[in-house]
Amino acid sequence: MKKLKILSLSIALSILSFNVSAASKAHLDHADTDIMDTASLQNGAKLFMNYCSGCHAISFMRYNRIGKDLGLSDELVAQNLMFAGEKTGETITTAMPEGAAAKWFGGVPPDLSLVARSKGTDWIYTYLRSFYDDESRIFGVNNKVLTNVSMPDALWSLRESQSEAEFDNSVRDITNFLDYVGEPAKLIRLQLGKWVLLFLGILFVLVYLLKKEYWKDVKYGIWRPRD
Ligand code: HEC
Repeated sequence: MKKLKILSLSIALSILSFNVSAASKAHLDHADTDIMDTASLQNGAKLFMNYCSGCHAISFMRYNRIGKDLGLSDELVAQNLMFAGEKTGETITTAMPEGAAAKWFGGVPPDLSLVARSKGTDWIYTYLRSFYDDESRIFGVNNKVLTNVSMPDALWSLRESQSEAEFDNSVRDITNFLDYVGEPAKLIRLQLGKWVLLFLGILFVLVYLLKKEYWKDVKYGIWRPRD
């Protein structure tokens, strides 16, 4: 009887786990990004502005914030990241007109300010490397992660000019940049966090010594509560 129970339980569990794995979609590669890697973020910003900003805005982000966070002077930001005579205090919008985009792509390219937080870095990293030829689609490409995608393979020229490892690194940098854009304060939060923990550690020692000092009288019977 007991054996039967165990058997039915294990069958039920295996059916359950099968359903779970069937529900999870395409396999995602590990992006392995590091937002503390400033060189990677700088390269990602540059690649994003060159290959993506023609269609996608990151309207929660301003040029001068990128400059400040990534250690780039206003001139470097203007030279490398700005192409349409914007001002450094402006948010990063796109020149793509919404109406035309809807007609051309069958959908407006979404704002990517928060995409790293909604989809995750692994998803973006895998998505950008998963375009394949499919003549039945308007742009002649389809995507393994986003089936029947309406975005063209924006990085094809970069892929042609780089080795596979170099291309993976470029995509990793773009993904890293989008991760940073999703929460710019993370750069400060992670750095500050160490100091806050150190401060709390030192405070703990002091407060503990103080507590010992206060309770000493109680412990050794010098202090008695009043009647
Ligand atoms: C020619 C215009 C165009 C270019 C250039 C372009 N995209 Fe897109 N992108 C789109 C469109 C259109 C969609 C909507 C796709 C869909 O839903 O089928 C999209 C979707 C996406 C998505 C999915 C967003 C979501 O929430 O579903 C990501 C991520 C993305 N693009 C990243 C990029 C990156 C990074 C680049 C630069 C390397 C880039 N795109 C270049 C048009 C473009």
